[in-house]
Amino acid sequence: MIERKLLFVCLGNICRSPAAEAVMAEKLLRAGMGTRIKCDSAGIIGYHSGEKADVRMRKHALQRGYKLTSLSRKVKSDVDFDHFDMIIGMDEQNIKDLNLLVRSSADLKKIFRMTDFSSQTSYDHIPDPYYGGSDGFELVLDLLEDACDGLLEYLRNKGN
Ligand code: 4NP
Repeated sequence: MIERKLLFVCLGNICRSPAAEAVMAEKLLRAGMGTRIKCDSAGIIGYHSGEKADVRMRKHALQRGYKLTSLSRKVKSDVDFDHFDMIIGMDEQNIKDLNLLVRSSADLKKIFRMTDFSSQTSYDHIPDPYYGGSDGFELVLDLLEDACDGLLEYLRNKGN
C-alpha cells in the first residue's frame, strides 16, 4: 500500500529534481520502504517537457549508481497538490513559485525545501548546476544524498 507520495521540484526538471527523485527512490528501496513511498519530479517551467534528464546529470548520477529515467514535465498546480503529500523545492525561487500555486493552507503545508532535511549547514539550497561545470553536478549529488538521508529519517519518524 502506498502511504506517501513525494514530488521533487526544480526549475527545469532536467537536473536537480530528477536526481533527487532517483536518489530518494534508491534510498527508499534500500530501506525497504520503496513500495510504501513513491517519488516523482517536476519543473516550474515546461521548457524541457518530454526530455530526459540533462546528459551531464545522468552521467554523474550513474557514476554513483543512480539511473535517471524520468521525463521532464511542468508542475500541474491543481493535480499535483491533490495527488502528492510533500512537494519539495530545491531553492528559494522554487519555493516562491510553488507558493504562488497553492489554493489553500493545506496546500501550503505540503511545500518543503530540500535542504530542510540536510545535516550539512553550508548550503540552504541545492545550487542550479545547469550553466556550470562538473563540480556543480557532483555538489548537487553530495547535497541530495545528505538531504535524502534526512528526509528518510523524517519519513521514518515524524512522517509516519
Ligand atoms: P534544473 O536546472 O532546474 O536543476 O533542472 C535547469 C535546467 C534548465 C534550465 C535552468 C535550470 N533552463 O534555463 O533551461
